[in-house]
Amino acid sequence: MQGLEVELAGMRLRNPTMLASGIMGLSAASLRRAIKGGAGAVVAKSCSSQPREGNPNPTVVEIPTGLLNSVGLANPGCAELAEELGRCRGEVPVVASVYGFSTREYAACAQVVERAGVDAVELNLSCPNVEGTVFGYSEELAREVVEEVKRRVRVPVFAKLTADAGDIVSVAAACEDAGADGITAINTLRAMAIDVTTARPVLGNRVGGLSGRCLKPVALRCVYEIAEEVSIPVIGCGGVTTGRDAVEFLLAGARAVQIGTGVLYRGMSVFRKVSMEIAEYMEEKGYSRVDELVGLAHR
Ligand code: FUM
Repeated sequence: MQGLEVELAGMRLRNPTMLASGIMGLSAASLRRAIKGGAGAVVAKSCSSQPREGNPNPTVVEIPTGLLNSVGLANPGCAELAEELGRCRGEVPVVASVYGFSTREYAACAQVVERAGVDAVELNLSCPNVEGTVFGYSEELAREVVEEVKRRVRVPVFAKLTADAGDIVSVAAACEDAGADGITAINTLRAMAIDVTTARPVLGNRVGGLSGRCLKPVALRCVYEIAEEVSIPVIGCGGVTTGRDAVEFLLAGARAVQIGTGVLYRGMSVFRKVSMEIAEYMEEKGYSRVDELVGLAHR
């Protein structure tokens, strides 16, 4: 498919679709499936310095408009995951997602995955499912993490933010100021479901993160507003399922889009399908390069 290539913080993506962190991203084999399904880049599941078992079951529940999860950052630890990531280098950029309970832990994890040869690091500053500070709620804390990680690694660093923050645009601006190479917007939103039969919260952790189609208008608004404020690339994330969704994010100012829950709706080939649908839109409208769409809605 011609004209779909994009440049993202120095990385060449064959198309603007990326596997979002959290879906199938714990092994080289599952990341390769997303690559085979057409992803332009893949982001692994967030890893922490120590292995984590995650939250009690149930951790995932489908609701009519999306998905709730409270996985709780279950992961084998950054050293083990880094080995897996090292095994799928080459075909498309591989991005590690790192999480920390402290600035120092973020930086240490970022160093471990960089040594394994990942192409970029995404800082998960916005997980709604673990006890502890959500660094992305605060401009100062987000700035501190980004600054420290930028001091320690040379690969591009993206900050993944949440609309649960009071003012996501100011947090994005602080991350840019601290040296971030891109902003991923947005993570899941804190939400819950209650089982009326048992009269209890459905998720083991009671509260979880909402993803899927219902998130798209919120994510789109965030991307649009962040893109007005920062000059680093913005990666759209939240409810992208079709090429039309992706085009909306591109028009709002995203340079690429991440797909997570969309994989459940349309399978691993969702990346190829969305790319083809973007290409069809471009042909219909007479665009030859996907870059031409980026930010057009700001006119
Ligand atoms: O609970 C989880 O593992 C989800 C993480 C996230 O949404 O950042």
